[in-house]
Amino acid sequence: MKTAGAAGIVAGTAGLLGETQAAETLRSLAAKKGLLIGSAFSRGALLKDPEYGKIIAREFNCLVAENEMKMDVVQRVRGEFDFTQADAIMAFAARHEMMVRAVPLVWHDALPQWAKNKTFPRQEALDILREHIFTVMRHFRGNVLAWDVLNEGLNDKAPGLRQQGPWFHSIGPEYAEKVYHMAHEADPEAVLFYNDFDMDGMSESADRCYLWIKELLARGVPIHGIGLQYHVKIDNHPNPADVTRNIRRFNDLGLIVHITELDVWLPAKATAEHLRQQAAIYRGVIETALAARNCPAVMLWGFSDRYSWVPGISRGTYDHALIYDRDYRPKPAYEAIAAALR
Ligand code: G3I
Repeated sequence: MKTAGAAGIVAGTAGLLGETQAAETLRSLAAKKGLLIGSAFSRGALLKDPEYGKIIAREFNCLVAENEMKMDVVQRVRGEFDFTQADAIMAFAARHEMMVRAVPLVWHDALPQWAKNKTFPRQEALDILREHIFTVMRHFRGNVLAWDVLNEGLNDKAPGLRQQGPWFHSIGPEYAEKVYHMAHEADPEAVLFYNDFDMDGMSESADRCYLWIKELLARGVPIHGIGLQYHVKIDNHPNPADVTRNIRRFNDLGLIVHITELDVWLPAKATAEHLRQQAAIYRGVIETALAARNCPAVMLWGFSDRYSWVPGISRGTYDHALIYDRDYRPKPAYEAIAAALR
């Protein structure tokens, strides 16, 4: 399994990032523990907001493009690949010696117009996926810590694969394992993840994912890691003991686990008590990752409430999900992560 490679990367990263910064930052603390701590990164925010880039480079050692590597951006026009935005993010990461998680190669969402709500002849759909996977992976080859090859491929609430998007409807359920073989063929050195939400603790959806992944591995599907998105709410989040058990069983399959999109949603009218509870949840995630056998990366889905997707997706019901407020003031969650890392 690829765990050695990833562990090597983490060890190397810690060495590479042997932080000599005088000031204590999440990045300097995480490097001492060999933990990758990262954030989703928006090129738009970087261009209009100098403070954004300064903080992300100072506090994190890993990046994930929030949207710039998705099919609707890199292959907006069928057969034409435009990596301008993604390359800018890779350049930022290289300049600041940061690792990059790459997401997602295959998803039922973030589809370009030419693929949205379409059903292609089966072979044509396979050819499209193969061209996309090979072109994108070879463009970034050697500069990516891990690839989320398939994102959110399982049903939310029922057994089986999500029956959404052109790839399921054109190819059938076997598309979900074929894309891993394609990715492995495109770059045999690549570390390949499956990424999904609502499967962070012990739950029916986590059990379904565990059994599905176990079956794929038994069939020789080249999957090396599991991404737990960890989008949680202050009134609905898994307890750390269950997350520990869940990570352990994936580790027992030989898989690396990454926390890939951590945010903790508060009610729009948040109180000081909400912020305290949020801090405790963030602290618990870091402590759980540090204690796990193989959970070397924790990625936040952004770091400042100014650019969080939460108010939009929740139509204003939830907000304040991240560790800096809209004016870049660190919240109790920031200090809680630092405390967990010390
Ligand atoms: O860039 C265009 C802009 O040119 C256009 O004017 C505007 C209005 O149509 O849309 C802009 O693109 C939007 C993009 O975010 C950048 O802001 C897309 O419409 C919008 O759908 C996209 O939403 C993203 C969503 O994934 C879908 O790709 C969110 O920002 C992003 O936070 C969210 O992230 C996902 C992860 O990738 C997978 N896990 C769940 C997570 C939350 O849904």
